[in-house]
Amino acid sequence: MGSDMGKIWCIVPAAGIGLRFGEERPKQYIPFRSSTIIDVTIKTLLSCSKLEKIIVCIHPDDEYAQKSDYINHPKVQVVIGGNERSDSVLSGIQSIQTDKADDDWVLVHDAARPCVRLADINRLIKAAQIHQQGAILAAPIHDTVKEVVNQLAVNTLDRTRLWRALTPQLFKLKDIQTALLSENENSYLMTDEASAIEQLGLPVRIVEGHADNIKITVPADLQLANMYMDQQEEKSCG
Ligand code: CTP
Ligand code: MG
Repeated sequence: MGSDMGKIWCIVPAAGIGLRFGEERPKQYIPFRSSTIIDVTIKTLLSCSKLEKIIVCIHPDDEYAQKSDYINHPKVQVVIGGNERSDSVLSGIQSIQTDKADDDWVLVHDAARPCVRLADINRLIKAAQIHQQGAILAAPIHDTVKEVVNQLAVNTLDRTRLWRALTPQLFKLKDIQTALLSENENSYLMTDEASAIEQLGLPVRIVEGHADNIKITVPADLQLANMYMDQQEEKSCG
């Protein structure tokens, strides 16, 4: 892969406080699979040999990261994140100083998505490499989706065109840096890196990923994620 693609720096935004999850500790530090959500996530990322470094963005008042099993791993670096997810990602990117080159890439993966599979990460990297374009994992939407105003359905969207954006999301370092640095009046709508890239008019390739790569947002997601991990482990054993 080396000659076709520069280094791939991995950024793990983990500076959120998990307001919707509603626990005292941020959701990424909740116990999961005899570890924690963030450690399960980092373990999978560490198993991807194509990633140069794993840069974990944490909250300035974080009291839990030091207890992570991977905090002292030679491939893991910790930086302080920012107020918004995009600020955290930008701070991770700006922490890359040494050996940063023009053809480098940045792969962003939420700490709160522990069920991501190595095979999907590798397919994403391959797609970005082949097309030399930014790419994201995404899953097609099967439900009928309504646009709702004041509790009334005002429109039914064409679901054949709708996908759920997952992470990882992979972009050329210089593109994602430019995109996140450019001020935008719609920045409150930018809940992922791809939206910032779209605003620049750059392509974002959709790579279908497994739908079980869910983001832990509310407590019920934890049970679901646990079941998905059981299923993944059963399959890999059988
Ligand atoms: N995140 C971050 N910096 C922020 C906000 C979020 O690094 N300022 C990270 C979270 O830690 C999480 C990922 O971005 O891994 C996705 O965000 P989200 O699911 O919204 O997590 P929280 O912001 O923690 O949750 P909530 O919105 O419910 O408060
Ligand atoms: Mg949030």
